[in-house]
Amino acid sequence: MTSLASKALPPHYYFDPEVFLYEKEKIFKSNWLFAGTQSAVNQHNDFVTFDVLGYPILIQNIHDEIQAFINICSHRKCKIQLKERGNRPLVCPYHNWSYGIDGKLKGIPKNSTDFEIDTQTKRDLSLKKVYLERCGNFLFINLSKPKIGLRAYLGNFFEILEDLSFSFPEQVKTGSYNWSANWKLAIETVLEVYHVPGTHPDTFSKIADDSCEVLLEKCHNSGHSDLHLEPKKWWGFIRKKLKLPQHKVYTEYNHFFIYPNLAIGITNGTLLSVQTYLPDGVNSCTLTFSLSLTKKSQNTQSGKDTPKSLTALKKAAISNFCNFNHATLEEDREMAEACHKNLLFADTSGILGKCEERISHFHRSWRQDVL
Ligand code: FES
Ligand SMILES: [Fe+2]
Repeated sequence: MTSLASKALPPHYYFDPEVFLYEKEKIFKSNWLFAGTQSAVNQHNDFVTFDVLGYPILIQNIHDEIQAFINICSHRKCKIQLKERGNRPLVCPYHNWSYGIDGKLKGIPKNSTDFEIDTQTKRDLSLKKVYLERCGNFLFINLSKPKIGLRAYLGNFFEILEDLSFSFPEQVKTGSYNWSANWKLAIETVLEVYHVPGTHPDTFSKIADDSCEVLLEKCHNSGHSDLHLEPKKWWGFIRKKLKLPQHKVYTEYNHFFIYPNLAIGITNGTLLSVQTYLPDGVNSCTLTFSLSLTKKSQNTQSGKDTPKSLTALKKAAISNFCNFNHATLEEDREMAEACHKNLLFADTSGILGKCEERISHFHRSWRQDVL
């Protein structure tokens, strides 16, 4: 290789089931993983559930303590919470075994007549806890005993994420996509803007430069690209009409990658996109996203605008950037899936230029964990 170019990971690392087993253990069971927001579980008994590599995870608010558990009842292994989100106590729906703070087994119907489970045994039958820490409104979990706390793990990005987590409180869209591509290929689509003219000629190319200022921070990194004048004007108009504030620092297209699988993008200090990429297996992954705006607009009347016209404008603006998000992700998906299929037949590694240094950095972190 030249002094500017380097080699990507060898092709088989993207489809070898044995490599995937190592990734499961050494990456996904060992690092802090993004697990949503605290505002999703603000009230006593609020809960959310999701799977991480097959592990059923439950996050529950118990008297204002946010705790995470493996969502498996100690009795006959039903899920304690069946739905993806809701508000109900920690009671298994199958036979009503109930649990309290720290997942302690509290109640067993017919215990005295049919089980005779004593207090000590009850303690041993607690739900399995999952480590959970907060960075502002963002929740992170760790499936093993963490090697370091979340603050140390995120380094200088902790305070940035903490601020971002509170600055975009109005969630306007969530969703997920299944990609037939290895999770690393999916992540690599967001770690450079070199692909923008080729992959996104009619979408992302219209809003931002294809050059990027990169910062490396521990195993994480960030990339900042200037926005074009037109999208800045559009966002300025939307902010003025809807009385949305602009983030003070991140006013261009600012992007953060938190190893191993969280990508956060900010557009013109107004829109926050949060994406996670979780493998479903070695050959596919699920991308989950949310889009949020800065502080809720009051929709108060301004000038000639009526509340009705402002509501219509807001709806149109949301539909505009949601469609943009969908189109851009579909373009990225097509490229990642094409690469994934071809890697089966490739006998040499890919080549990474200086403009792809965030991918080289991701690969270095990956190697440190897995090899
Ligand atoms: S399986 Fe949970 S109470 Fe029976
Ligand atoms: Fe892209």
